Amino acid sequence: MRPFEARPLGPLWVKLIATLWLAVVGVSAHAQLPESADNCLACHDDPQLNAVLHGPHAVLSDSRNRFAEQGCGSCHGASEEHMRRPPRGEPRAATDIRFVKGEGGGAGDAVCLDCHHGNALHWTASAHADAGLACVDCHRLHTLDDPMSSAEAEVEHCASCHRKEHAEFMKVSAHPLDAGRMQCSDCHAAHGSATPAALTRPTINETCHECHAEMRGPFLWEHPPAREDCMSCHTPHGSAHGALLKQRTPFLCQQCHLAQFHPSTALSGTGLSGSSLPSGSTSLMGQDCLNCHQQVHGSNHPSGVGATR
Ligand code: HEC
Ligand code: HEC
Ligand code: HEC
Ligand code: HEC
Ligand code: HEC
Ligand code: HEC
Ligand code: HEC
Ligand code: HEC
Ligand code: HEC
Ligand code: HEC
Repeated sequence: MRPFEARPLGPLWVKLIATLWLAVVGVSAHAQLPESADNCLACHDDPQLNAVLHGPHAVLSDSRNRFAEQGCGSCHGASEEHMRRPPRGEPRAATDIRFVKGEGGGAGDAVCLDCHHGNALHWTASAHADAGLACVDCHRLHTLDDPMSSAEAEVEHCASCHRKEHAEFMKVSAHPLDAGRMQCSDCHAAHGSATPAALTRPTINETCHECHAEMRGPFLWEHPPAREDCMSCHTPHGSAHGALLKQRTPFLCQQCHLAQFHPSTALSGTGLSGSSLPSGSTSLMGQDCLNCHQQVHGSNHPSGVGATR
């Protein structure tokens, strides 16, 4: 597992304005803070840390975050021991609850899940929890822009661990991740789901149909593999072949369609002078299957039999 990489807030000017704003508004906001938070801020009053005061976890009118009641303790615990001056030569006691990356399943996650119990449903059985990730392996609480709330920051962060998958998106044909048009969580539920590979929808096809509705059908003339599993022909992330294909045609098609099943007349080499190719070669004259069978996903044309129109 790779160490967490701190991410800057954004462009320099955003950072500047945010810092100025926090310096001005942050200070005046302290006046209304619960005493428990003031206690902590007596020692921890730094603008970057104080961003948490302006996010959803410190909205005083929202009782769900318990901030009005418990202040910083709503996450860190009352931490009385921590606030005491340590005996000379000894380190300060840690806060009651600690948030440590790569140490999931502990008290830190339990605090988050206590409020975000909706996320617990699949989380406990997810590959991420299983691998020991904690909520703070992805989320940052003391910032106004959690990396998981922007497409580009999210992709960069997922890629910091999933280099192989991210590299697939650099191939000739790929889903447009780097342009910021898509993100990993369009297809994957980072908190886990009931499907293999933690997809956002109950099946692979339903995940694809979310954006490629025209492939959903039902069609008058179905092509069974498209109905069953888009992955029979495509890769999800990227491919060296066009259109995210696993193999290029005709080899792709020939994995399932043996040459002898095809009407010999369509591709026969008979009658061609000097042809050394065996009669019925499926690659003859570069006649790609798609030249004739254009509707590989299914056809609604009244005479679309054979996926030819
Ligand atoms: C008297 C000053 C003081 C007060 C009050 C105080 N802290 Fe700290 N805190 C420190 C110091 C100093 C460190 C750095 C300790 C270290 O690096 O060993 C620290 C470190 C921390 C850390 C990082 C290390 C850890 O234990 O996880 C957290 C989180 C933290 N404080 C939260 C809080 C919270 C929440 C409160 C209020 C409940 C609070 N602090 C009140 C002085 C204080
Ligand atoms: C919603 C939960 C939550 C609340 C509320 C919260 N914190 Fe934190 N705090 C965290 C988490 C999680 C971390 C671990 C680092 C991170 O996510 O940014 C953290 C880290 C810290 C650290 C250590 C920073 C470092 O660089 O190691 C300090 C100090 C701290 N918090 C102080 C406070 C103080 C003071 C308050 C109240 C003003 C507060 N926290 C409110 C969740 C919270
Ligand atoms: C005491 C309850 C409470 C705790 C503890 C808590 N949260 Fe939250 N959290 C909330 C509430 C309330 C919201 C706002 C939800 C909304 O507006 O729908 C929120 C919002 C969020 C959001 C959405 C952020 C955004 O900017 O919209 C994330 C991500 C999040 N919490 C993660 C965490 C993590 C990770 C922890 C543990 C470190 C944590 N929360 C601890 C109550 C809590
Ligand atoms: C592997 C990275 C990752 C981990 C670990 C992670 N999250 Fe998230 N989280 C995300 C992403 C990505 C999003 C935004 C996309 C989405 O809504 O699914 C998100 C969104 C959220 C939100 C706001 C939207 C919502 O679902 O309500 C909350 C709250 C949240 N996470 C809480 C948690 C808690 C609690 C934990 C720990 C049990 C956790 N997350 C662990 C990646 C992660
Ligand atoms: C701190 C490292 C880390 C980060 C960050 C991270 N992952 Fe993972 N992820 C893992 C590990 C470890 C596994 C389990 C082993 C494996 O499959 O490689 C995993 C597994 C997965 C799986 C397979 C799930 C399954 O059920 O088989 C998917 C999908 C996934 N991660 C997507 C994401 C996405 C999307 C993000 C960003 C929101 C993300 N990961 C961020 C480490 C990470
Ligand atoms: C267009 C949808 C889509 C996007 C976007 C996407 N994935 Fe996937 N991913 C899938 C599908 C579908 C599978 C399952 C493939 C299979 O079962 O053959 C998968 C599989 C995975 C796996 C599991 C691989 C294994 O061998 O179990 C990981 C890890 C993963 N993706 C990570 C990521 C990461 C990280 C990102 C973002 C950089 C990402 N994915 C973006 C659809 C997507
Ligand atoms: C969140 C939306 C979304 C989801 C979900 C999605 N796609 Fe895409 N897909 C796109 C976008 C956007 C493009 C790029 C279209 C463009 O460039 O005009 C694309 C392009 C493609 C292409 C053409 C690539 C090329 O190089 O021509 C294929 C094939 C494809 N997707 C298959 C799939 C499959 C299979 C799945 C399910 C695993 C899937 N898509 C899920 C949005 C999505
Ligand atoms: C039998 C193999 C096969 C299956 C199964 C299949 N596809 Fe395709 N798909 C292709 C081929 C071949 C192309 C390239 C077509 C071309 O170049 O004209 C393609 C192209 C695409 C394109 C981009 C071009 C376009 O027509 O917009 C998308 C998007 C796409 N497929 C999505 C899907 C989805 C979603 C599924 C699952 C429902 C799926 N495919 C199942 C073979 C298949
Ligand atoms: C994963 C296996 C698989 C792949 C790959 C595959 N097919 Fe098929 N195809 C089938 C099955 C199964 C049928 C249904 C056979 C039947 O009904 O007897 C079928 C039927 C057909 C039919 C006849 C449709 C009809 O209406 O009778 C054509 C034409 C066809 N496929 C063309 C293609 C082409 C072109 C490709 C490559 C782009 C391709 N297939 C790739 C499995 C596959
Ligand atoms: C020159 C045009 C052409 C090319 C190239 C072509 N086909 Fe065909 N194919 C046809 C025609 C025409 C039919 C008959 C359609 C009908 O039933 O009306 C057919 C029928 C089929 C059938 C259904 C056969 C049956 O027995 O019902 C399959 C499967 C098929 N083709 C697969 C392929 C594959 C795989 C390739 C590439 C290796 C390919 N075709 C290349 C024209 C072509």
